[in-house]
This record gives sequence, structure tokens and C-alpha cells, in this order.
Amino acid sequence: MRTRAKGLLAAVVALTASALMFLASPASAATLTEVTNFGTNPSNLRMHLYVPDNVQARPGLLVALHWCTGTGPVFHRDTQFAQLADRHGFIVIYPTANRSSQCFDVYTQQALTRGGGSDPVGIRSMVGYVQSRYNVDPNRIFAAGMSSGAMMTNVLLALYPDVFRAGAAFAGVPYTCFRTTGGSEWSTECANGQIIRTPQQWGDAVRNAYPGYTGPRPRMQLWHGTNDDALRYPNFTEEIKQWTNVHGLNQTPVFTDSPGSGQTRTRYGGTGGQAPVEAISMQGVGHNLPINATEAIRFFGLNAAPPTSPPPSSPPPGGSTTRYEAEASPAVCTGTIDSNWSGYSGSGFCNGGNAAGAYAQFAVNAPAAGTATLRVRFANGVTTARPASLIVNGATVQTPSFEGTGAWSTWMTKTLTVTLNAGGNTIRLNPTTANGLPNIDYLEITTSS
Ligand code: GCU
Ligand code: CA
Repeated sequence: MRTRAKGLLAAVVALTASALMFLASPASAATLTEVTNFGTNPSNLRMHLYVPDNVQARPGLLVALHWCTGTGPVFHRDTQFAQLADRHGFIVIYPTANRSSQCFDVYTQQALTRGGGSDPVGIRSMVGYVQSRYNVDPNRIFAAGMSSGAMMTNVLLALYPDVFRAGAAFAGVPYTCFRTTGGSEWSTECANGQIIRTPQQWGDAVRNAYPGYTGPRPRMQLWHGTNDDALRYPNFTEEIKQWTNVHGLNQTPVFTDSPGSGQTRTRYGGTGGQAPVEAISMQGVGHNLPINATEAIRFFGLNAAPPTSPPPSSPPPGGSTTRYEAEASPAVCTGTIDSNWSGYSGSGFCNGGNAAGAYAQFAVNAPAAGTATLRVRFANGVTTARPASLIVNGATVQTPSFEGTGAWSTWMTKTLTVTLNAGGNTIRLNPTTANGLPNIDYLEITTSS
């Protein structure tokens, strides 16, 4: 504890000073807002959200993670991510750790387990919350952090390769390096650079975090100062071993250059600006390295024009069918947007919190008042049916029950008939038992002419 407090606090003071010096341009335009009740949050993290005024129609999303003793608002103030969000239209989440050290949990077994609890689960919920409200591009979700936040970036990319497309870790350590027993928040051995493993061992740690996962692995950008006295320099090499191995690469760079004074940049698995692994070593720099937000955003591709999105749909003509995905705004999912069970349409599904009242809500259009046919696509992998109130424009009109479908990847469609108003309508599925809703893929509406 004492080592950390001394080492990292000193680092933060220096970092804050240098960051303030190079923030010449005015603070970003939109305001940072706190979000509560964003979903499962086992360790009571706080969540601050930065949505730029010119947010894209299908925005990218960045989780920006503070150092020990830091907070989300301080990280927002002292880094350039929000200004870059103003420029490029992406959204930033700033989580705040809620323990006296203000370090993220990167050391308990829960935190190092996918869905295991603690901070990573809360951060995953924050991402789901934003996905359910802002039509986030699932292929442009990233994490970046400094020190404790860099360690967490390694953890998040290991646990949730299906969520994060890339990360940037400024002065971090590999996933599982900081594991402790008996509740200690500090691994002296790891911090001191004494945990040395083979690429295979580090890679196995990541693969074992999500057994059976066969999808793409997140790209990783790693930064470290050679004189880091808090999380010593050998951790840089260990991180390179881990992420190159995860990508099936060896540790010989295919590209080397010097993008700045004292900097050596190596790339693995590709020579271009978005290689699977990119590592920047900073000669003579200590733990308080400058957070080069611009370079992280470039590596993510968040500085590029967004992929072209289809024009917004107009109200359907009579007799037509419109599908409303549960994962896409303006739908609301009281829970997380997941994609871990196959067979869904769109980019994922709503995994409602397992609680009565953890609803999924759709905003739908009807060309004229009258009867409409709803089809709710759902999966319920347990044998107990999950009942819910069907609430149309605030009134409960039916209580459908969603039977077991045999597996979470087996989807079924339930057909319901309701009366809608002309124009906008709100349709909510509100679970009435503690199991919550089944996973909800979409709502389709057919209006008769
Ligand atoms: C599992 C499953 C989820 C589902 C949940 C539930 O955790 O992976 O997709 O939503 O069970 O019981 O609601
Ligand atoms: Ca659920």
C-alpha cells in the first residue's frame, strides 16, 4: 500500500501539471454528466458520460480509465479525450473506482473472471447502457487508461473480446499479472517487474478468460517509460508477449520507427497504423508518461469518418412490417446489450436485469390508429417461463409469458395483437417476476392498412 501511495501519488501530481500545461485549447463544449442506475454494478462504480454536441448518428464509444487516486471527472479534465470526442463525434465513458485507494480492481479473482463481478462487470454495464441509448457502432468500442486504468484496459480486453475492438494502455501490466490473494490491492511482485512468463503462458491466461471464444481479438497499443518506478518497465515486454501471443504472432516486430524524441515504436502483425499490436517505449520517462490521446484515437480509428449509416426509417406504410432492434436507440434496455449468444438479428440483444421491472422498451411508429401485430423475438435458456406486462403507451394491455426456448441461443417469436395510436407509440415489456425478461432480440410490428 505504502509503495503504491507514494509512487503513484507523486506520478499523478506530475502528470496533472504536465497535462494542464498542454491543454491550451478551451475545455470541451458539452458537459460531463453522471449516470446512475446503469445496470449491474457490484462494486458501486460511478459513471460519468461525455456525449459531444455533434455526436455521430452511429458513434464510436471509448471507456477512459483513471489512475489510482484519480476519478472519472479528473481524468476527463486532465486528458484530451473529450476534446477529441468534440472533434470526431464519439462518446466517452469515465468510470470512477469506489474504494479508498481509488484504484480499479485488477487483482481479485472476481475482477479477473468474465462476468465474475467487481469493477469489470460495472464497466461492462456502462457500455451496455450507452449502447442501448446512443445507437453505438459495436465495431467501434474501445478502452484506454493510465496506470491503474491501463491495467484495467488489459483486463477488459481479456475478459470482453466480444465488446472491445482495441485498447490503449499507458503504463500498465498484463492481464492477471496483478492477481493477489487475501484481498491485497497491490502486487509488489508484478509492480516491480518480477513476474516474467512465456508468451504462451500470458496468451493462455487471456484465452482461459473466455473459453470457447473464437471471434476476433482486440488490437492493443502499449505505452511505457523505461524509468517507470511504479509499474516497472519489464511489464511492457510482458504485455507485448501477451497480446502478440493472443493474436498468434511472434515477438519480432515487423516495423520499427521513432515517432517522437526518445520514442521507439514497434508493430507486430502489421506495418500500418492499425497493426494488431503496437508498442511505444519512451526512453528515460518515468511512470508519469504523457497520455497521447491523439495517438490512441488514431490507433482506434475514431478519428476517421464513420461508416455510412442507412437513413432513418420513416413511418411504414399500411400493411408493412418494421423491425425494431432491442439493442439500438431509441429502444431502452434495462440491463446490458449482449452478443454472447448467437442467432440474434442486428448487433446484439437486450439482456434485461434479472429483476421485476427491468424492462425493454421500444419506440414504434404506426401510420394510422388501429390494430397492429407485434412479434417479439426472444430466448429463454431456463425452464421457467418469464411473464411480463405488455405496456402500450403507459397502459398494461396483456401479460404474455415467455416460455423456455431450450437454450439461450435458441430464439423464438411470440405474436401479440395490440392497438396503436397514429404516429409514435411506446411499447414496454415489463417483467413481473424476479427472473426478469428473457433475452429480447427485437420487436417487429405489422400494421394493417
Ligand atoms: C445467463 C445468460 C444471459 C441471460 C441470463 C438470465 O446469464 O447468459 O444471456 O440473460 O442468464 O437468466 O437472464
Ligand atoms: Ca437476463
